[in-house]
Amino acid sequence: MTEKFIPLIDNRRHQDSLTIPAQLKLPSGKLADTLSRPLHDLRISVTDRCNFRCVYCMPKEIFDKNYQYLPHNALLSFEEITRIAKIFLSHGVKKIRLTGGEPLLRKNIEDLVAMLAELRTTDGLAPDLTLTTNGSLLEKKAKSLKNAGLNRVTVSLDSLNDTTFKQMNDVDFAVSEVLNGIDAAHAAGLGPIKINMVVKAGVNDHEITDMARYFKNSPHILRFIEYMDVGASNHWQVNEVITSEQIILRLQEAGMPLRLLPANYEGETAQRWQHHDNQGEIGFISSVSNAFCKDCSRARLSTEGKLYTCLFATEGHDLRDIIRSKENHSDLLISNVIASIWQSRNDRYSELRNLTEAKNQTTEKKIEMSYIGG
Ligand code: GTP
Ligand code: 5AD
Ligand code: SF4
Ligand code: SF4
Repeated sequence: MTEKFIPLIDNRRHQDSLTIPAQLKLPSGKLADTLSRPLHDLRISVTDRCNFRCVYCMPKEIFDKNYQYLPHNALLSFEEITRIAKIFLSHGVKKIRLTGGEPLLRKNIEDLVAMLAELRTTDGLAPDLTLTTNGSLLEKKAKSLKNAGLNRVTVSLDSLNDTTFKQMNDVDFAVSEVLNGIDAAHAAGLGPIKINMVVKAGVNDHEITDMARYFKNSPHILRFIEYMDVGASNHWQVNEVITSEQIILRLQEAGMPLRLLPANYEGETAQRWQHHDNQGEIGFISSVSNAFCKDCSRARLSTEGKLYTCLFATEGHDLRDIIRSKENHSDLLISNVIASIWQSRNDRYSELRNLTEAKNQTTEKKIEMSYIGG
């Protein structure tokens, strides 16, 4: 690692007032931002709460009993979320991911899944409906989520070793329960299951090879994630990052050489690799060492209805304000507001971070991962 990976804030500050175009246009199913990137994914955060206190995401000293979570009436209702999601689909979104905090903590989440599963993309297909979870409630909920129409899940799992796992979740949660959740999700047909491991130097990097070996002959796809400078609570330091290149080398040295696979689609977060003996896919999410902003087609809707066009944004666009307005705005108007936000998008934080000098470090507050989801 060199010091070229620097957290910064560029000029992505969004104006808070929303632009309503003078002439309303019907959605064409194709939107492009200022860098010609389409809108493909909608990631919806359904709660800012979590039952874990992962050291890199919701450290205990900040997310303690005095922490002010969003009040209930600030949360978008399932009807509001579904209304917004439907408009996004009319702009070409194909994949919807539910995130949190921990999304399975949101009461009756299966009802929202069922409502979203009824929606259709511009091709007349159901959206790819998926959810990122810490797995703690998966054993209990896998079947009902599948029955409600969820296609697949991604499970965060940073270690197979109970001591390290508990050290990382910081709430004494046993790894066996998450593994049971993964089994239940597999049995319920919520696959292919992706397993996300955030690697933090000195904390769980000694378990990289154990993880790779464990998932090698399984139907699940293990993905190593470079520890990112999201939010501010985790006090990210560049020397805590283990790059994908370093991981690939370590796997090779441990007798697990890999070969590169082609991407499934443009803008995919993970680079796909495969074990040399074809026993299983393995992914690398390298947003620190090899930014993937060039094809980033992800929009993020926060729990309280703010639209963020980048994971590292400091300000969102308040869609809740328009959908709750006394003026009873039409879907067409909201669709035009969303279109104008996307069309003026120029975010490429991770790319800029890698190009910029230390003097550009931010004093502005970035949003937290627990607020906007992964
Ligand atoms: P799949 O379609 O299942 O491959 O999902 P995904 O990779 O889009 O989603 P997932 O939630 O599994 O994302 C994995 C991790 O990648 C997240 O937890 C983040 O750490 C990181 N990530 C996802 N999207 C972005 C992004 O737009 N920018 C950056 N910098 N990191 C991202
Ligand atoms: N860096 C990388 N990934 C992170 N996540 C949370 N915080 C970070 C971070 N600092 C990811 C975890 C989890 C998802 C919700 O967000 O992998 O799977
Ligand atoms: Fe919770 Fe996921 Fe953040 Fe861990 S990474 S604290 S499980 S939201
Ligand atoms: Fe997309 Fe922003 Fe992540 Fe770049 S840093 S990939 S623009 S969310």
